[in-house]
Amino acid sequence: MRLRDEVFVVTGAQGGMGKETVKRFLEEGAYVAAVDLNIDNSIKNDRLLPISADLTNEEDVKNVFSKTYQVFGKITGLLNIAGVAQSATPIEEVSLDEWKKIIDVNTTAVFLTCREVAPYLKQQNDGVIVNVASISAVRPRPGLNAYIASKGATVSLSQALAIELAEYGIRVNVVNPGPADTQMLGQFSSKDMDIETTKETIFKKSVPLGKLIQPIDIANSLVYLSSKESAIVTGAVLNVDGGRGI
Ligand SMILES: NC(=O)c1ccc[n+]([C@@H]2O[C@H](COP(=O)([O-])OP(=O)(O)OC[C@H]3O[C@@H](n4cnc5c(N)ncnc54)[C@H](O)[C@@H]3O)[C@@H](O)[C@H]2O)c1
Repeated sequence: MRLRDEVFVVTGAQGGMGKETVKRFLEEGAYVAAVDLNIDNSIKNDRLLPISADLTNEEDVKNVFSKTYQVFGKITGLLNIAGVAQSATPIEEVSLDEWKKIIDVNTTAVFLTCREVAPYLKQQNDGVIVNVASISAVRPRPGLNAYIASKGATVSLSQALAIELAEYGIRVNVVNPGPADTQMLGQFSSKDMDIETTKETIFKKSVPLGKLIQPIDIANSLVYLSSKESAIVTGAVLNVDGGRGI
């Protein structure tokens, strides 16, 4: 067990990558606060704390960490997996509301959660943060303008925090998934394209290893970056993308 008795807050826990991450972290012996807009409360497990929260809301974010601390007695780390997609749209058709919504969830919520977790981690001089960005920030696709900007900002914020928090023994890293087999993938296609065709003809073909990334691939990379096996790794960006970023 690589995460025995450690305590992690996992956001986006109801989504494709999030669900698998919660499962893997429990298997590795961790306690997990599973956070999403509408989290499933039906699974009974003493190591699992489901919390429904809108991570763009400051009060909700405060509550996530105070509740986790209250129930489990410490916080080891934060895994920011929550996010929203953008359907490929020419820049002149992107509304200000759409832009703000994407930046709010993919960047501002990452700021809010990192800000909130920092004091908990600083008091123990130890801790980890992993933020999930996207390989599209390295190798952009046309029409994903707001999404790519939001993920690029998340990478920069993570590296800014890696240097700022290093003196407290807190590590901050990024995982860049390539096109992954979750319900989000279809949401990246343009409005006039069929989702399944886009998956096969555009996304799968764009991965040098010839297959879509699976949620377990992301979950495994998060286990590594959260465990002591990566004790000397901070400010890193790990592409888990089948070579898409090459
Ligand atoms: N699927 C892909 O191809 C792909 C590729 C690169 C990066 N990513 C990134 O990986 C992460 C996980 O994606 P996924 O494929 O599992 O997507 P998903 O849609 O299955 O899961 C995302 C989850 O985030 C939650 N969420 C959205 N807004 C929220 C908010 N305001 N507060 C709380 N929760 C909120 C959603 O409810 C959902 O459960 C995202 O950050 C995404 O941008 C995905």
